[in-house]
Amino acid sequence: MLLTADQLKQYWTDGFLELPELFSQAELDVLKAEVSSLMQQDSPGRVFEKDGHTLRALHGCHLASAQCNRLTRLARLVEPAMQLVEESVYVYQFKVNFKAAFVGDVWRWHQDYIYWHNEDGMPAPSATNAMVFLDEVNEFNGPLMFVRGSHRAGLIEVAAASKTAAGQAGWVQNVSADLKYALDASAVAALVAEGQLAAPKGSAGTTVLFHPNIAHASAPNLSPFSRAVVIVTYNSVANQPLNRAQPRPEFLVSRDVAPIAPLTADALL
Ligand code: SIN
Ligand code: MN
Repeated sequence: MLLTADQLKQYWTDGFLELPELFSQAELDVLKAEVSSLMQQDSPGRVFEKDGHTLRALHGCHLASAQCNRLTRLARLVEPAMQLVEESVYVYQFKVNFKAAFVGDVWRWHQDYIYWHNEDGMPAPSATNAMVFLDEVNEFNGPLMFVRGSHRAGLIEVAAASKTAAGQAGWVQNVSADLKYALDASAVAALVAEGQLAAPKGSAGTTVLFHPNIAHASAPNLSPFSRAVVIVTYNSVANQPLNRAQPRPEFLVSRDVAPIAPLTADALL
């Protein structure tokens, strides 16, 4: 599946692109059943909310799960990613962000690329995120908010927040509610003065592509509706991270950089 010229233009203007209902109910059933099963398993890339027991995110599922791996190889995700980075791609990161009903916590304003650049040595923002809604995303359950066009500001340097809690691995601060590189209020206000806020919503199966430098955030989920999303980050094969001496764990920075050969439409079923 290729993006049209209008869709490409919209992505480069806004920094994100909505693709409504990209997955069928049958495919969502497969994915949701797999994610439910992964939620029950102990894995190094599991992250909990501050209450210590609500699952906040699972990382690196494509390494262990055949279904998650097949999802990342579907032509309808890989081909647009290749168009956007103008190169072959591989999976840099795979995560499920849960935002559980009533207790799913905040994602403060940030750009993704600052993590990949500062922590991993990714040379350029030649990557893209594909966020697949596993649940309906509505105005109540903490939709991801974007500042339209803010990717054009490039990487905004911010000081790293003070260090991790005792006994916590360093990478946890990259994915917790207390983010390491959050944009401050004045930076966000300046971006919003230039571009409007947008919060794509839609039924399960809707997919949003977004740029590594777009400013984004999501509020806590106070509603009774869970808001699980899968986010696959595709990186250009020509843009591999340079920090090879002390890389973050494989569930955050995939080691398999072989270009993906796209799978046919029915590969999940
Ligand atoms: C969220 O799940 O709301 C945040 C996703 C992200 O920051 O990439
Ligand atoms: Mn992010």
